[in-house]
Parts: sequence; C-alpha cells; structure tokens
Amino acid sequence: MNASHTTRKRAALLGAHLWPLTAAIDEGGRLIIGGCNVAELARQYGTPLYLFDEVTIRESCRTWCAALTAGYQGETAVHYASKALLNSALARLIADEGLGLDVVSGGELYVALHAGFPPQRIYMHGNAKTRAELEQALSAEIGQIIVDNLDELEILANLTLYRLRPQPVALRIAPDIAADTHAHMQTGHATSKFGLPLDALDAAAERLRTAPGLRLLGLHAHLGSQLFDLDPYAAEIEVLLDTAARLRDRYGLTIQEINAGGGMGVPYTADQKPFDPYACAARLGEALTCRCRERGFPLPRLVIEPGRSIIARAGVALYTIVATKNLPHTRFLHIDGGMGDNIRPALYGARYTAVLAEQANAPAEEIVEIAGRYCESGDVLIHAAPLPRARVGDILAVPVAGAYTLSMASTYNLTPRPAVVMVNSGNVRLIQRRETYEDLIARDARDET
Ligand code: LLP
Repeated sequence: MNASHTTRKRAALLGAHLWPLTAAIDEGGRLIIGGCNVAELARQYGTPLYLFDEVTIRESCRTWCAALTAGYQGETAVHYASKALLNSALARLIADEGLGLDVVSGGELYVALHAGFPPQRIYMHGNAKTRAELEQALSAEIGQIIVDNLDELEILANLTLYRLRPQPVALRIAPDIAADTHAHMQTGHATSKFGLPLDALDAAAERLRTAPGLRLLGLHAHLGSQLFDLDPYAAEIEVLLDTAARLRDRYGLTIQEINAGGGMGVPYTADQKPFDPYACAARLGEALTCRCRERGFPLPRLVIEPGRSIIARAGVALYTIVATKNLPHTRFLHIDGGMGDNIRPALYGARYTAVLAEQANAPAEEIVEIAGRYCESGDVLIHAAPLPRARVGDILAVPVAGAYTLSMASTYNLTPRPAVVMVNSGNVRLIQRRETYEDLIARDARDET
C-alpha cells in the first residue's frame, strides 16, 4: 500500500482544481492521491471511506496565512472553523500549521483540547451556548468567547465576576448585509438568528462596563458560507469599523481586533472557478486600512475564519457501487453511502462530480443517477453524472468532499459512519476508524442491552 506509483500528469483529471493537489492518474487510468492508489485503499479499509490529502490541507493553511499577511500591514491571524470538520489528527495538524481554531460547541472544544490544541488560540462561537459550555470555555481559559446575544453576555458577566484574569471577549454583530448564497447559509442579514442586532449594541456596551471579569477585545461578523463575491466583505468591514467608532466615541472602548468571519467559496463542479485567497485578503486588508485611516484608528489585528476553503478540496469520498438499476430513461448506480455521510445534496441541493477510481480519465459513456443507500427518495448524491460504463464493485471517487460532510454525518438507518484516512507521500494513516455495530449500542443503558 505504501508503494508510490508512476504517475502521469495531473492535467488528465477533468476539473483538476477540484481534486487534492497531489491527485494524479497512473498509466492504467487509476486515481492516485498522496502517492496512494485510492481504489486499493478503498478495498483495504472498506467503503465508504473518506480520504484526506495532508499536502492539500497544509498548503491551504499556508496560502491563507500568506495571503492575509500580503494583503494587510497590521497583525493577522487565520482561524480554522472546525465545524467544517474536526478530529484529533486534524486539530493537531491545524495547531502545527500555527492557525487558530474556532469551535462552536462544547464537543468541538473538548476534541480540540484533548488533541492538545493551545487554548489561547481557540475562539468559541455559538448563538445558543449553554451555561455548561461557557463554564467549560472559561475554565479552559480559551483565547476568546465571541458573544452572540445579551443573555449570553449577562451569564458570562456573572460567571466571571470574581475572576482574576478577565476573559477576553468579542461581540458578534449582525451587519445587515445580504450575501449571495443558499438561504440556509446566509447569516449576515438583520433578521438572522446570529449576532447582536446593531440596535442592541448600546445595551451590550453598558453591560460590559459593569463586567470586571470580561475584557472586550474585538468585533466579529460572518456573512454566510460559500461566497464568491468580495464586495460584501468590504461592506462588512465598513459596518464593523462604524461599530468600533461608535463604541469608542460613546463608551471609550478600544477595539483591537476585527474578525471578518469565514465563508470563502469553494468550487464543487468543473465549471466553477477557483476562489483567490490573495484577492480576498487584499480586499479585506484594503477596506480595513482605508476605514481605519478615515477614522483615525491604529491598525487592528485582522482575523478570518475559513472552514470550507481549508478542508473541502483535501477530502475525497470513496464509495462502492453495490447495485445498478436500468429504467426507461434513467440508470441508477446505488452506492454504499449517501446522505448519512454527505447530507449536502439533500439539504442544499449541493452539486458534486465523480469519477470511477480505476478509469479516472476514461471518456463518459452514459449519464447516471448516483443514488445513496438511505431510505429517502431525496438521497441522490449526484444527479446526471457523466461516467464510463460502471459495474457493480467499481469504486466511485467524489472530490471536494472534505467540508461539512463527516461533520454533519449521522447514523441514519443505523448505518455506521465511515473510516477516515490521511495520505501523504505514499503513506496512509487511519485517523478515524469506521464506526462499528457495537458503537451503535454503546450508549444504550446497561439493562437494555
Ligand atoms: N465563522 C462562523 C461564525 C461560521 O458560522 C462559519 C460557518 C464559518 C466561520 C466558516 O465558514 P466557511 O468558511 O466554512 O464557509 N453546513 C453548510 C455550511 C454552514 C456554515 C456555517 N458556518 C454547508 O454544508 O455548506
């Protein structure tokens, strides 16, 4: 399995920008990633199998950090939004690359701390953080709690009343900016469930005055996910700076950090263009520098929180075709995964592409429906996929499968969740084993089993 393979040029893969950086096709037409034959991995570890290319993850971390440094003269930080995917191996890799980490639940915080992620580089989000989660974050002394609403602020102010070292916080505001994306992924509009409406800002500032255990460091906004247009980011910076000016002028509060959130788009199909991190960072940097100059602010620290654009492209989902069905106008390929491991097509109408892992550059011969195994008619992973003639037992490889797939996975139909491997230079590492049937009853009370 560790043998590296002779490879042809990556260009042979249609839509090369959708595949991990190390993806290639060998002379037999087999898909190779991280120096490993992916069909062999699928047969060795079983399917569905999620494969991650370490080089691609590290490269996207580095690109975002370099882009932000190039685009802005002030201090910068890139935080990986761990809701896109988190496990112990990934937390360690992200820590190793020097990024910060956004968590949005006690569970994500637990996994991050367990993996040894430095607490000071962890920020906690969430519109409904429970008291227990806030206590967990406070006792871990994480870098920042990003306050979403006045009730949360009240609880935090009380929990930290006698704290010796104040807990740094930021206020998340709802900037009232519409972003062009799926309705489920918009978060910056005024009526969003996320963030403080701008008219609640004064109440928040007043409450912070009498909260000695809290130290307001920053302002945060997040417009939504899967955004390609940069204009909303510039508009967002303007609202954040207006807000910082209001806090300074009315309350003498100094904002040291501006957090523009994540949401940077990722192409899923060959017709979608790649997103340019350098252009995005330059736009943010330029808007921030310009607004600070206008208002006489020193340059604050600029933070961004990409999730999808760090992990999506690094992940490839592998399935086995277990059955086929020919209807008058449709041919179904039934695979051994689907909405349990990737609910995005069913939930958002998300589009994916696929190749047969052992005929990765063969011309398409038919248009098929790739149907998931779950008991829902809506569980169709890919509509109208062009493929060579596929047979039972073939391995199907789906690119751009790294983000919001496993992190939203379920055991629907009590189907165990997939194994996860990381590949690099011909080596493969199992980073998460496949769920077992025993796992499915592990939580049942003892006298029920
Ligand atoms: N920061 C905050 C506060 C967020 O809420 C999110 C994502 C991010 C950063 C990272 O956004 P990204 O760079 O990954 O777009 N389940 C949906 C995506 C939901 C995103 C939620 N928030 C999907 O499958 O497309």
